[in-house]
Amino acid sequence: IYTDGRRNSKGINLNINSQFQPLLNEMKPFLERTYSAGPLVGFELDHESSERHDVICPWDHGRTIGSVRWSSAEETSRAIDVAWKAFPDWNDTPVEKRAAILERFADLMEKHMAELMAMCCMEGGKLLPDGVAEVREAVDFCRYYAARAREIFGAPTPLPGPTGESNELIMQGKGVFTTISPWNFPIAIFCGQTVAAAVAGNTVLAKPAEQTSLIAHRVIELLYEAGMPREVVQLLPGDGATVGSVLSSDRRITGVAFTGSTQTAQLINRSLAARDNAALPTLIAETGGLNAMIVDSTALPEQVVADVVESSYQSAGQRCSALRVLYVQEDIAERVIETLKGAMVELNIGDPTRLATDVGPVIDEEARKGLQAHIDRLKSEGRLIAETAIDADTAASGTFIAPTAFRIDGIDALDTEQFGPILHVATFKANEIDQVIDIINERGYGLTFGVHSRNETFTNHVASRIRVGNVYVNRNIIGAVVGVQPFGGQGFSGTGPKAGGPHYLLRFANEKTRTINT
Ligand code: SER
Repeated sequence: IYTDGRRNSKGINLNINSQFQPLLNEMKPFLERTYSAGPLVGFELDHESSERHDVICPWDHGRTIGSVRWSSAEETSRAIDVAWKAFPDWNDTPVEKRAAILERFADLMEKHMAELMAMCCMEGGKLLPDGVAEVREAVDFCRYYAARAREIFGAPTPLPGPTGESNELIMQGKGVFTTISPWNFPIAIFCGQTVAAAVAGNTVLAKPAEQTSLIAHRVIELLYEAGMPREVVQLLPGDGATVGSVLSSDRRITGVAFTGSTQTAQLINRSLAARDNAALPTLIAETGGLNAMIVDSTALPEQVVADVVESSYQSAGQRCSALRVLYVQEDIAERVIETLKGAMVELNIGDPTRLATDVGPVIDEEARKGLQAHIDRLKSEGRLIAETAIDADTAASGTFIAPTAFRIDGIDALDTEQFGPILHVATFKANEIDQVIDIINERGYGLTFGVHSRNETFTNHVASRIRVGNVYVNRNIIGAVVGVQPFGGQGFSGTGPKAGGPHYLLRFANEKTRTINT
């Protein structure tokens, strides 16, 4: 039924065997390794100063893939001292030198692609296509920000002035930045935030998600190999309660770039605001979404379903861009739902290193439990449309959640984002479209959104009224590309800066004018 030539019969993972077999062979030794991580800082460490935490593979609970030593509060404060002292010189370092480090880092990540993909798979539970996309996006961020940095932080911009006076505008870093990144894009988002802050002239304290510290550690080793000074970017693995709270409450922190939940962004905001004698901070937050798609009666059901399956279930639904609520016009709802049921039967759940797998594990037991509770509640209300089968051995081997689809009345029935492979489907009548748009807008999230229709007036109307960061028309709503679909939302979904967009670096910069009486 998928006739556009881009997708296989399951709607995802195009030509996977021929593309990925050679990479999989290269990954093999790294899939069997055991890894170790800890703080990477610009001072001598006492390795006994805090405990180590084991890292368990999310799809094979029998395997411990390594351990991480979390940073102590004292080490975190010392790292801030180092970053604070290093800022003036780094900010004065010519942008060409800073940008060149990012480009060398990008080259190194490409060189170590198989290793990084293997780590994404073992620690993050990522499928091979997701692993490739992950590394590629990180590489794109580095090259894109290097190019933008040269434009923004290169020669000052001349400004007009009276005879005898010269004026210019100079862009500089702001100071010490904390970057707090999520586990769902452990390389791409982690690198994107960190290199953006650094190339703009800031020194950086990077706190990766607890779940993906091994990957972060390897990535920062490569960044140092590319020439980044250790005192400019320091890695502080650990939890929010210890490391995160020091990094958002110290008065020397100028700004925080955060990707994660809306609730945590609010906590960070309060913590930054509560500091005494601290400069007004910058918060760059990219948070959750309750992303919707509206489908009218002119849409092509087969194309809709292919895009819905990708948007809802790829990466096991663990993308902030993923589709959570599908609104289908009543007239074609039955056909769309029947086609969706057919597509869901075909999905394979399991080991992410198997080329036939479509849906891997969710990140950990806490995530699995939360998703399962939501599924159980909707099932008990008799709302289940379809659930992909999962075999008992797979279910027992790790934190798997089978893709599900449920009927709901509308987006306002959902309290929070469910960060996994769960789709909710609602229907609407033709004359209710503006009401649906209002309900989605009033729910308050504003990250991604999709509209499927062959009526251009309809798609233009919907795309214009909806208040979100990324609108997609007649396609899936995931996989924003650096420089092509700058990514970031509004409302509960974030403070607005678009990662991979032309204005992102400006958020990490101060503007200064210089006037000289000649
Ligand atoms: N940038 C990712 C996407 O577009 C989500 O974080 O899917």
